[in-house]
Amino acid sequence: MRGELTVDGKSVGFRAALCRCGASKRKPFCDKSHKYVGFAATGEPPSRKSELEPLEQRDGVLAVEPELDGPLVMQGNIEIVAGSGRTVAITREERLCRCGASANKPFCDESHRVTGFRSI
Ligand code: FES
Repeated sequence: MRGELTVDGKSVGFRAALCRCGASKRKPFCDKSHKYVGFAATGEPPSRKSELEPLEQRDGVLAVEPELDGPLVMQGNIEIVAGSGRTVAITREERLCRCGASANKPFCDESHRVTGFRSI
C-alpha cells in the first residue's frame, strides 16, 4: 500500500506491505510467510464501475483498521490497482482479505468466518 498510511491509528509512513495470507507473525504486516504456506492469489479481479471515477482527490490519509479475526478495513481515497497496472476499484472504503481464503482476492468475501481465521 502506498499513501499517507495509518494502521490501527498509528502513522506508518508512505509505504507498507500488509499480510494477505493470514500466516504472518507480525500481523497486520507481511513477514514473507506467504512464501512458505502455499498462498495463491486468485488472479486479477474484474474492474468495478465506480461513480467516484476519477477520484476528486488522490491523496490524503489512507486509514487501515485491521478487524479482529477479519479483514483490513480501509478508508480514504482508494485506488486498487492490479499487478498489470489496471485499475480494479476506486472507492473511499474497502474491506481487503487478510486471511488468505477469499475466493475474490483482494476483497474479503467473508471466508474468514468459515476458516476460523485468527488475527492474534
Ligand atoms: S479476511 Fe479473508 S475472506 Fe475476509
